Formats: sequence, C-alpha cells, structure tokens
Amino acid sequence: MMRYLFAMLALSFSTTGFSQQEGELVSFDLRLSLKVYMNTAGEIFYELNNREQPVINRSRLGIKLQDGAGFVSGMKRGVVSISEKDETWQPVWGEESSIRNRYKEMKVELEQPAMRNAKMIITFRLYNEGLGIRYEWPAQSTLNHFVVMDELTEFALTGDHTAWWIPGDYDTNEYTYTTSKLSEVNTGITSRFNEINTRVPWSETGVQTPLMMKSDKGLYLNIHEAALVNYPVMQLEIQKGTNTLRSHLVPNVYGDKAYLQTPAKTPWRVINVAEKATDILASRLILNLNEPSKIKDPSWIKPTKYVGIWWEMHVGISSWDYAGTQDGTYDRADLKPSGKHGATTSRTKQYIDFAAKHGFDGVLVEGWNEGWEDWFGKWKEDVFDFVTPYPDFDLKEVSRYAQSKGVKMIMHHETSGSVTNYERWMDTAYRLMKNYGYPAVKTGYVGKIIPRGEHHDGQWMTNHFNRAAQKTADYRIMVNMHESSRPTGMHRTYPNWIACEAARGNEFNAWSSGNPPEHETILPFTRLMGGPMDYTPGIFEIKMSHYKPDAKEQVHTTLAKQLALYITMYSPLQMAADLPENYEKRLDALQFIKDVAVDWDESKYLEAEPGDYLTIVRKSKGKNEWFGGAITDENARTATFTLDFLDKQRQWEAVVYKDGKDAHWEKNPMSYTIERKKVKAGDLLQVPLAAGGGVAIHFRAL
Ligand code: NOJ
Ligand code: CA
Repeated sequence: MMRYLFAMLALSFSTTGFSQQEGELVSFDLRLSLKVYMNTAGEIFYELNNREQPVINRSRLGIKLQDGAGFVSGMKRGVVSISEKDETWQPVWGEESSIRNRYKEMKVELEQPAMRNAKMIITFRLYNEGLGIRYEWPAQSTLNHFVVMDELTEFALTGDHTAWWIPGDYDTNEYTYTTSKLSEVNTGITSRFNEINTRVPWSETGVQTPLMMKSDKGLYLNIHEAALVNYPVMQLEIQKGTNTLRSHLVPNVYGDKAYLQTPAKTPWRVINVAEKATDILASRLILNLNEPSKIKDPSWIKPTKYVGIWWEMHVGISSWDYAGTQDGTYDRADLKPSGKHGATTSRTKQYIDFAAKHGFDGVLVEGWNEGWEDWFGKWKEDVFDFVTPYPDFDLKEVSRYAQSKGVKMIMHHETSGSVTNYERWMDTAYRLMKNYGYPAVKTGYVGKIIPRGEHHDGQWMTNHFNRAAQKTADYRIMVNMHESSRPTGMHRTYPNWIACEAARGNEFNAWSSGNPPEHETILPFTRLMGGPMDYTPGIFEIKMSHYKPDAKEQVHTTLAKQLALYITMYSPLQMAADLPENYEKRLDALQFIKDVAVDWDESKYLEAEPGDYLTIVRKSKGKNEWFGGAITDENARTATFTLDFLDKQRQWEAVVYKDGKDAHWEKNPMSYTIERKKVKAGDLLQVPLAAGGGVAIHFRAL
C-alpha cells in the first residue's frame, strides 16, 4: 500500500468563507472526483462529481454530541493523508467468486478546541462506482465515552430526482415501494410508536435506505450504509423545500442515537453513482466496505435450498400453535390440540421425504415449540424457551429420520420481539440444535421489542443482531433473520449470516393486498443492495381461492415469474415455499427449482430499470452451466438475452420456462410452457414476458 502524508500549506480563504479545497480524490477510472472543504467557521463539507458534473453538491458533515458539544463547527484541521488499495478477495459464497476491492482513500483529521482538542477523523474512500464516508474517533484521553445526539451528514442532490422509497419506519421495512419525485415524498407518518415512545416525532419526509434514485439526466444514485456495527440504522430525511437529504439516526426511548466509547467508528455512508441501472446491480461497494470474514474455517457454511412447514400456516390451512386458541384462557399444562397444528412429526416426515426425493438440502419447521398461543400481541417476556417441543413434535425422531434421509433440519426461533429473553436462552437453544444436528436457524422478531423502549433499527438491536451472528458462528450455525434491520453487507464479515428478510416478502401475497407486480423489480435496487433476502419464492398455486373459495388474495406474478425470482433475487438461501402437494402436480416446472444453483462464479446484469424489468444471467459455481432470469412489472414486454457469455467451444441447450401465450399475473397466472432449444455463443434469445410475468432459463452444455 502506498501512503504519503502531506501537511496542508497556509490556507487562502475565498470570499464565500470557504477555504481552498482541503483535499481532492479522483477515481481510478477518472470518472468520479471528490472534494473536501472547510469553511472559516470550522465546518466541514464534501462534494462529489461525475465527469466533472456535480452529483452531490457541497454537503455538510458533522456529529452532534450531548450537552451542545460536538464536531460541528469551530473545528481545526490536522493532518490529511492519502493512500490507495488494490486487492482481490474470495467471498465464501456470492454472486461472483472473486471480488476486486480497489479504491483511493483520504483521511482528514479534525480537532475540536472547545472539547480540549478532542479528535475525530473522517475517512473518504473513492471507488470507480461511488464513495464511502465514515467518522472515526481514535482512543484519546480527552474523549472517552460520549453520546451521539445527531449526525449532520448531508447529501445535497442536484435536482428533484425520482426515488423508489419506503417510509423511514423505526421498526420495519415491510412496505411496498412508492415511486415519486423526492419533493413528493409523503410517508403519511408524522409521529410514531406513540404508545411506547411519544418523545420522538418523526417526519413525513423520512425514508429508509437503500434509497434508489434517478436524475432527470438519467444518472442512477443509490444511498445506503455499510458495516452497521454498534450504531443505529441511518434513515434519510428530505429537507423540505430543498433537494438535500440528511442522515436521521434511529433513536432510543430517550432520543439518544448512540452510546460510544473511543476508539469508535460509524458505519460507512455510501453513495453509488452509475450511468446504467445494471451497474448499480453489479456494484460490490457495500461488500468491499465491510471487514473481511471473521470465520477462519467456513467449510460448514453451505448455500442452501429448502422447503418447510411454513406456507401452509400463511395460507391458513394449518396453525403454528398447538391448541389453536388465543382467547386468553391459555394454560400450558392443559393444552387441547386444535387438530390444525402444522408442525407434527408425521407432517415433518412428509416434508423430509419430499426434500430427499427432490434433492432439497433442508426442511424448516415453524411452530414446533411451545409458546405460540401466547406470541405477539400479548407482550409476554418469557413467551418462548426455544427448547420445549409441543407434545406432537418428536424432536429426537424427526432428527433421526432426517439424518437417515440425508436431509438437514432448519430450526426456527421466533422471539416475538422478546429479545432479552432470547439472549438468555441462546446458548441453551444452540446447544439443543447441535445435539439434534440442526445446522441452521431462522430467527424472527415480530412485534415491538420487549422489554419496551427500543426499536428494531436502534443501536441496541444492531448490537443484538450482530451478537446473534457472532454467537451462531461460535456454534457453527448459519442464521437467517426475519424482522431484523436491513442488511449492510455484514455477511462478508459473518458469512454464516446467510440471509435476512427485512423487506416485504412473498408471504404478504398470502394474507394481504400483497406485493404489486413491480415489487420484485425494485427490491434488487433497494433492499438487496445490502445483502441477500429470504424472499421465499416458488409459489405455484397462485390464487388463495385454491384454499378458501371466496379468498381474494393472490401472488401478484405468473408462475414463470416465481421461477425467475431464483435468479433475479440473489440469495444463497432459497426456499421452495409452496406445499409438496402443489409441486407434485407440476413436476416439470419444479425441475427448474431442483436444478437452479444457489452459489455463483459470475453474474451478468443484461438489462434493467428499477420498477420495470430486469434480466440477469449467472454461472453456477465450479460448473460449466448458466441460469438466466428475467422479470417484468405489470406490463408485458420482451426480455433479451445476448448469449455472448456462453463458452464458444461448446454446444448448448437452453431449457426455457416461460409464460404461456395467454398468461397474465391476474387473469391467468398459472399458464406456462417449457421449451428446449439449441443455442450457441453470440445468439440473441428474445422471450416475451406476460404482464407480471417472467422467464427462467437453464443453459446446459451439451
Ligand atoms: C414473520 C416471518 O417473516 C415469517 O416467515 C414467519 O413465518 C412468521 N413471522 C412467524 O414467525
Ligand atoms: Ca416478516
């Protein structure tokens, strides 16, 4: 690594109160440039340009601490140092098997005379694809522990961009996206969670990240954060009447944002800048800004395809609870089976048989343990113990049977938001899993956090999620978190943290107005920027009237689009979410889910536009085989696969799972056809997609 320091020369001040620029970085490809300034009031600013045109106008940086202290103004600049790095690393699993991390870095040291010269460093990392900014406090006698009250980080955009946004809710990301100009953002939320927290009003213009935007000139911008450790989630607030976004940290019940002790650092604030939408998808910026893996021997971490006792509860034909009552008369010692309980030993064996027959790695069982009569809504702290099965679930026998069939069991820990209770039980619960050979756990945090006063997106919960990742790693367990905060690339550091939900998943289609057909064309540009999602695709029985004749709910895609999601929604953990009975009726379509890989050497993003469509191809890890997926929103269109990625030396067969001629997400969602074609490198493959439709393709070398 090259490193050179330079002390700044005497500053010359311009009439606007800004000094000459303090430092400048230009990206390796010369496209992006960063300038950092201080003004005469000792305030610090940055600015980002794309081909010499501003992308982020001069924007404020700074941190407010308690009692009016902080690194806001009156600061003095110390040393500025510049360095660069170029390395290539191999993720344990991912969209590609090798990732280049190449950047230029500038560290600006700042001193606060009003705080006995306490020091803060701002680090800027400039990549070809964007910028990372982080605040750091080295260990120092003048600053030991402190409270962050506010972060002043601003993103002064150059216009009223189009944005794909969800409200900045402190507790959930489970929303559909709205597409609007930034000036039109109105979350309809003026204050929140007032029952537990009236002291923290929040604004109508607060949104969650990753925030995807497009300028009138066609530039794509994405703002998120990387490496969320010991800090609250950063949401963004649009400053009314301006095009400026300001960082809004999720508070605790006192309105405090973060309690820190030096040495300390914030997560990276990340701006992706792309001239093509596909370049946003191809970016590895978030991963590169995270720390390398802490797991020395990752051989036990395995990308996984699974089935489970799950969708049947969501469609309402079976229940999580054993007694089937929530009438308040519950008594653990006196449970009467309702006859609807899903997680029975015999039903689990059916799923194990199905998994073994069709080559799925794992079986998830929800509702196996006591407590569901009392879960969310009752706010009971000791609701679950994570070790006591219901009388009709024989843990020992299930585990013996699964092992005899070569299938892995996936544990379920719904905490019902009772997090301190979960922390008390973790070791015992993970030891039980190890005893019965469960290599993976799905956790859940439905409802308000118990004990009350914390938010899912606050610092306290950040620390819980990271602790759970570390503790499961200690036990060599893979973890999939539902209702966690949205990921920030921490799966580079903890590759056992194999997926999260943290967005509106397919389950909403079973019991609510659902996810509109555009939903899955937006997620890769928003939620998925931070890491994989357990979306749970693969629903074949699209209309809920299949279960209840008068049900109006349905999955808002065609069946072929459900297949395409295995490619377009990257995750090393993929569920085949429908019931075995529904798959047995359509084994030809199931074949795609059986064949599709969950780990990749290479991914290519052929065409994309947020909210409209995307076409992606991926090469299976270690195999000469590709898979393609394309999806569209509510509009029918044609997907184009340019086959220049195929090996020229080989003959190829494309097995194309596409919408039937008459398919339509609402009127005729289950119409599909499967076609086999000979193809070769350089061919153009064009496939019509129905409204709300998609196509999935398996390219096999002959
Ligand atoms: C919500 C989760 O997203 C879902 O997958 C799970 O089945 C329920 N909570 C119950 O834990
Ligand atoms: Ca959920």
